[in-house]
Amino acid sequence: MIEIHAMSPNDAPLCATLMSTSEPWTLIGRTYDESIALVTDPSKEAWVAHDGDRFLGFILLVLRGAFVGYIQIIAVSAEARGTGVGSKLIEFAERRIFSQFPNVFLCVSSFNPRARALYERLGYQLVGELKDYLVRGASEFLMRKTTGPLRSSTD
Ligand SMILES: CC(C)(COP(=O)(O)OP(=O)(O)OC[C@H]1O[C@@H](n2cnc3c(N)ncnc32)[C@H](O)[C@@H]1OP(=O)(O)O)[C@@H](O)C(=O)NCCC(=O)NCCS
Repeated sequence: MIEIHAMSPNDAPLCATLMSTSEPWTLIGRTYDESIALVTDPSKEAWVAHDGDRFLGFILLVLRGAFVGYIQIIAVSAEARGTGVGSKLIEFAERRIFSQFPNVFLCVSSFNPRARALYERLGYQLVGELKDYLVRGASEFLMRKTTGPLRSSTD
């Protein structure tokens, strides 16, 4: 059974290893040290999926600042992909974000069409294209799922 809980100190190296050894982050040269700094950044929230003792993946949320409600990273271990773990992590993140904010944002690389297809299936819509954002020659697509505007009227 998949359980999701806040990232523990023991989980952090697993998250950083998964990220620094997986596409798309290998393609942009993200190192283990950069990954561990990111997942342990106290200004963000990391949530981890486990099945018993088995680490399945994680999701990293940004819940402060402009465009609040941003899913910065989602990664599922190679053996567990395609079994619903990513969808469960996103559903969890949506419950967490929508309890406070009306938008969930995420970015997906132009060279990751399978991830984009998943986000579209889960109701995310394309907001715009950030050309040459991470690496030259590729784009990041900003996507959004919303429950409504920030304010209910213009008054
Ligand atoms: C993208 C990812 C988080 C989805 O998690 P998941 O547990 O595999 O997803 P689910 O089982 O809930 O849904 C399956 C869908 O995910 C997508 N997917 C599956 N494997 C994938 C992979 N290796 N890379 C990208 N997307 C993948 C597909 O759309 C798939 O649907 P399909 O089987 O009909 O093609 C996961 O596959 C992953 O970690 N991929 C590598 C890292 C990555 O691309 N992260 C997203 C960066 S924006």
